[in-house]
Amino acid sequence: MAGSEKTSVLLEETRLFHPPKDLVENSNVMQYMKKKGFKTEKELRTWASANLEEFWGEMGKEYATWFKPFDKVLDWKPPYSKWFLGGLINATYNCVDRHAKGAKKDKVAYIGVGEPLGDVRKFTYGDLYKEVNKLANGLKSLGIKKGDIVSIYMPMIPELPIAMLACAKLGIIHSVTFSGFSSKAYGDRVIDGGSRISITVDGFWRRGKVVPLKESADEALLTAPSVEKQIVYKRCGNEVKWNPRDIWWHDLVKDQSTECDCEQLDPEHRLYLLYTSGTTGKPKGIEHAQGGTVVGCPQTLHWVFDLKDNDVWWCTADIGWVTGHSYIVYAPLSLGVTSIMYEGSPDFPDFGRWWSIIQEHKVNVLYTAPTAIRMFMKAGAQWSDKYDLKSLRLLGTVGEPINPEAWIWYRTNIGRGELQIMDTWWQTETGTFINSPLPTTPLKPGSCTMPLPGYNTEVWDESGHKVPTGEGGNVVIMTPYPTMLRDFYKDPARYMKTYWEHYWKVAPGVYLAGDKGREDADGYFWIQGRIDDVLKVAGHRLGNSEVESAAVSHPKVAEAAVIGKPDEVKGEVIIVFAILRSGVEPSEDLKKELIAHIRKTLGPVGMPEAVYFVNDVPKTRSGKIMRRVIRAKAMGQPVGDISTLMNPEAVDGIPKIV
Ligand code: PRX
Repeated sequence: MAGSEKTSVLLEETRLFHPPKDLVENSNVMQYMKKKGFKTEKELRTWASANLEEFWGEMGKEYATWFKPFDKVLDWKPPYSKWFLGGLINATYNCVDRHAKGAKKDKVAYIGVGEPLGDVRKFTYGDLYKEVNKLANGLKSLGIKKGDIVSIYMPMIPELPIAMLACAKLGIIHSVTFSGFSSKAYGDRVIDGGSRISITVDGFWRRGKVVPLKESADEALLTAPSVEKQIVYKRCGNEVKWNPRDIWWHDLVKDQSTECDCEQLDPEHRLYLLYTSGTTGKPKGIEHAQGGTVVGCPQTLHWVFDLKDNDVWWCTADIGWVTGHSYIVYAPLSLGVTSIMYEGSPDFPDFGRWWSIIQEHKVNVLYTAPTAIRMFMKAGAQWSDKYDLKSLRLLGTVGEPINPEAWIWYRTNIGRGELQIMDTWWQTETGTFINSPLPTTPLKPGSCTMPLPGYNTEVWDESGHKVPTGEGGNVVIMTPYPTMLRDFYKDPARYMKTYWEHYWKVAPGVYLAGDKGREDADGYFWIQGRIDDVLKVAGHRLGNSEVESAAVSHPKVAEAAVIGKPDEVKGEVIIVFAILRSGVEPSEDLKKELIAHIRKTLGPVGMPEAVYFVNDVPKTRSGKIMRRVIRAKAMGQPVGDISTLMNPEAVDGIPKIV
């Protein structure tokens, strides 16, 4: 499949990729536009974003089933919003029960593809209903109830959403930790939530080997005395150490009823906590609400990815990240569609694995990350060429800006040179896509296009004015929306400081997203990266300071500064500049030891690419590490004015690393 489109043309960013007529005509959003009498997509976007309550009220009724209808759409007292007031709802009822009790009972909800070849387990909506109910009853038998927090540390197997849905059914708040994070990361999250229950697995498959996750969970629980019971799902049958608090999942559910009533909840009742990295070393627990999630998630998936009832949807993210929470669990299940869940590595047993899954299960819509696309690009199109990908009809990306070269490769080699690519810009905090094309939108490679209907984003300068067209600035979200984060768990002051304080004096309620961006003359947004010290490594969000605190937790390290270095595949890789304690001799072995230590502290996602030993790192007079200056020096770029630094001479000691 040779591509005729040239990247050089695209870099001028003028070329538009118009959607094919049949996609536009048959799209879900077009049906809505016709119903409402909107002639253009722009009319719809403008109307919905200006009439938030009318629009979201309509969506609230359309996409969710309520035990009691809401009587007020929005109560907005910046920085706090409440949605669908007066209603009663349950997310699991919307995702499972209403389908299991209706026409979709025997429809497949998840095709769980294990990493070992041939290991495929299908769960219908009826199966999910029974499994969720049994586990929910099991949780009840352990004395867990509405409002409690349950910590989950599981891989990409269908039992992970089952555990989340069992919690949600009872109004228990789940707190999922990505299985690629370390035991320390899990322990920190368990402690912060004060969880009484941990749910994990014996092990899972990764590149042909068993990752013994229970070992990490056990290590985490050494520091978390609040945990009374740990439920262990037997995935691999690997040998595990057994503690008095452990209970096998299969034993817990064995005699439980397959029926379990849903808690009827206030829509603001918290659905989950998800920890994400910010500028300080400690990840913050983002709170999301039940009601907003099962309105905003299905609605955005239905419109942007245009899912039809018979579609097979594959979002390749891990459920440990927000993309998986929203678009593997709550959105597709609410819509009642069939999703793929793949446990393993994309290159196992070879780079054809994903494409073989698409061929075998006739996947229609694929949603993945730029880092994965760049990895496949590097491996070569011969892998995807071997498989029949004709079932695909729409593609998507998320996680970081996609470079036009990767965009074109994706369209050419995976999308037969014809498929549209939905580049969705959003965050853990937002819960749904914010800026994204619709199937009706002409695309510009590398642009996440415009705010979706019902959302308002702009680009502002520091003083709180919209920047002129084409100029860079801070991306801000001007108005509330149902899936927006509700707070930081136990830290409202930091919630205020992180997102709202920046423009509070000029415009209270304007949300600082933390991204740089610009809007072009056609209203298309171009995201340029973070304004704060947040790394994006293979699309995963990590704080520079998180890696720094992992580095200084090594007994031989006095201080550390961490920067991201651009990388062809991962977007960024982690580089550590470490100052050793006095008397410690630098050595190559110590570098390796430090890399291993950081990997152990943060998990595989936090592993540095390289460590450099330095005598000092440049700082401001108030003691803040000047990562921007370190990065410029290390990358061989001009460092700018450093006269105001406390120790300008430290800049000389930073080696050039490219
Ligand atoms: O910098 C933006 C980048 O990812 C950040 C959010 O990261 P996280 O909370 O981990 O959520 C990722 C998945 C939703 C954003 O602040 N980002 C995400 N999507 C895009 C993006 N940057 C450019 N284009 C995107 N499509």
